[in-house]
Amino acid sequence: MIKKCLFPAAGYGTRFLPATKAMPKEMLPVVNKPLIQYGVEEALDAGLTEISIVTGRGKRALEDHFDISYELENQIKGTDKEKYLVGIRKLLDECSFSYTRQTEMKGLGHAILTGRPLIGDEPFAVVLADDLCVNLEGDGVLTQMVKLYEQYRCTIVAIQEVDPQETNKYGVISGELIADDLYRVRNMVEKPAPEDAPSNLAIIGRYILTPDIFELIKQTEPGKGGEIQITDALMKQAKNGCVIAYKFKGQRFDCGGAEGYIEATNFCFENFYKTGKAY
Ligand code: G1P
Repeated sequence: MIKKCLFPAAGYGTRFLPATKAMPKEMLPVVNKPLIQYGVEEALDAGLTEISIVTGRGKRALEDHFDISYELENQIKGTDKEKYLVGIRKLLDECSFSYTRQTEMKGLGHAILTGRPLIGDEPFAVVLADDLCVNLEGDGVLTQMVKLYEQYRCTIVAIQEVDPQETNKYGVISGELIADDLYRVRNMVEKPAPEDAPSNLAIIGRYILTPDIFELIKQTEPGKGGEIQITDALMKQAKNGCVIAYKFKGQRFDCGGAEGYIEATNFCFENFYKTGKAY
């Protein structure tokens, strides 16, 4: 059973400056909810109740968000505004939150390794909150992945097909198709130029990792951009054992940049806010 979900959230959010100068990018609202809350809700839907967040300097708003504000509670008690807090109260009731700080930004692999003391020796999920994932047709993306983990018992990464000209924004995989929408990974490259990409199957910000990944990250030299890349550690795992890439059902919005953020905002406004499902 997977119970833990790690949120690397120490990054600077430079693609969204100046909005992210003094505010964590994970707190950017999509309509009325911060990005990270969508991620935690997706985790809870998948049965992951132990939320571990890797934060950094200037990220204290994250901890305050996942806590009770007594002044606010007192202020709106008995009014119809209480409905706005139903969702966040559910998260506080049903999840635990623990935090650790990444003091130096040395890449996503390094951020995940920083979370090791919160995870221990068990399989866990990773959510990159700026990838907002939704599935109006059924299970959320993490729920789909947890079900696959129960079947295959190995690391699972979520993938989607991207424009071949955009491979340099993603970790890109290739492998053999083992079932509908499932690949056994044979190759994996972090942000390859289109001419070097093994395919157009891009990793998005949802992973289920087995705990041997931590030792593999430790053995991983800095790669693309001089950073410790999770993609490089996963490639080692794929060589030694098994990594599965899963073309998930649903939609993903890249909220780290303006275009995806606006698309997500319009989508959530139409499908959640207007329909009263936004709290
Ligand atoms: C990270 C990963 C990359 C992955 C992407 C998904 O990159 O390094 O492999 O495809 O997340 O969003 P970042 O977007 O943090 O640069």
